[in-house]
Amino acid sequence: MKKSKTSFFCQHCGYMSPKWLGKCPSCNGWNCFAEELVVESGSDSRAEMRFDGRPQPIEEIPAEEGARITTGITEIDRVLGGGIVGGSAILIGGEPGIGKSTLLLQMMHNLATKGLKVLYVSGEESASQIKLRGRRLGANAKELLVLVEVSLERILEQIKIIKPAIVVIDSIQTVYSAELMSAPGSVGQVREASSRLILNAKKLGLPLFLIGHVTKDGSIAGPKVLEHMVDTVLYFEGDSGHAYRIIRGMKNRFGPTNEIGVFEMQEKGLQEVANPSSFFLAERPQNAAGSVVVPSLEGTRPILVEIQALVSATNLGMPRRTAIGVDHNRVSLLVAVLDKICGLHLSGSDIFLNVAGGVNVEEPAVDLGIVAAMASSFLDRPIDSQTVVLGEVGLTGEVRAISQMEIRIREAARLGFNRCIIPKSNISQLVSRQKMSIIAISSLKEMLDNLF
Ligand code: TYD
Ligand code: MG
Repeated sequence: MKKSKTSFFCQHCGYMSPKWLGKCPSCNGWNCFAEELVVESGSDSRAEMRFDGRPQPIEEIPAEEGARITTGITEIDRVLGGGIVGGSAILIGGEPGIGKSTLLLQMMHNLATKGLKVLYVSGEESASQIKLRGRRLGANAKELLVLVEVSLERILEQIKIIKPAIVVIDSIQTVYSAELMSAPGSVGQVREASSRLILNAKKLGLPLFLIGHVTKDGSIAGPKVLEHMVDTVLYFEGDSGHAYRIIRGMKNRFGPTNEIGVFEMQEKGLQEVANPSSFFLAERPQNAAGSVVVPSLEGTRPILVEIQALVSATNLGMPRRTAIGVDHNRVSLLVAVLDKICGLHLSGSDIFLNVAGGVNVEEPAVDLGIVAAMASSFLDRPIDSQTVVLGEVGLTGEVRAISQMEIRIREAARLGFNRCIIPKSNISQLVSRQKMSIIAISSLKEMLDNLF
């Protein structure tokens, strides 16, 4: 007989406590503990995996990376670091309706047409719903098998029988194990189901995709708990209101992180956007105050984004500060620097900042762009539309060096920009001759003099 006991789990982050708590000490969430049955380890499935319990010199361990399987979708292959690694577990997170099932079905169709046997397990949609979606996407490969199932034990059994080359679990939150009493989607179930699926996949050397829903506030019974169990975590950014979708690699044991893939949701599923810079700049207004372009770096790829600011006199006692796509704290800091060092008094103004297209740019290299956009709107003087700015701003108004200057400038030149304002300390790193005029500055004042 298996010994069983219960514990209380935070439904947001998976923190375990022997007694009920009102506030989670790990994620600070309130009222998020639920009692769940814990299967005593030792007697459970974890014993299925047998390791050779002997230390060995690292030099003698055979390094077998194995061939990567390319998905046929370049944007995804890049985020994965060149394709899917055998035996790896990949978590795809995102809000409901963002396109997770669509992307996976497209990918699996591609792999199945190459002759790989794919098992697509769905606990969310009926087989005919998947068929209808597949028809829109043109996913009709013979080797693409669809299984509608939520029981963990039966899924594992089917994997054993069918022996697929790749498995997709469309939403790990729907899978449940009969051995646990707790409801499907609870932390205990999600953890148990994924750990057994992952162990099974590792044993068979089979790549496993887990789809996980993430709610608006970023909390999920699932993905947060899962992040440390899987090899790769990809998240969908953007919202379902916009046509484009960004997939970002948050963690990758087999490749780079922070790499992004850009897609557009169309009639026939997700289409790759090969040239994101021109995509994000497509609707840029000409000669409008408050708009500036910044070459931001996402992973290893430079992407030009437009930062927009609207600074208007406030009639509130406490002016409003809204920042979408850029770090809120960073903006407050830059407003203070502009006020104190440059004498632009924004304290009586509402400030709205937005990165056009809804991209998130969190790196400090966009500081200068934020300042330029705010100053431009405040002064009501447009910035030359052929100019890009980039650099980090310090608290005394100094402009600091940023990384990877060369490739950022090259991307801007490729898109037809002819003037670039950069930190002075970056100049020495530029090796090749640039196709645009470079203005090196060391303080914010200098930048404002050059722009207006
Ligand atoms: P879906 O993949 O079901 O989202 P998730 O699995 O992340 O919940 O995506 C559903 C959305 O995508 C839905 O709003 C309709 C849209 N869509 C298209 O615009 N074109 C298409 O070809 C498909 C299949 C879906
Ligand atoms: Mg779905």
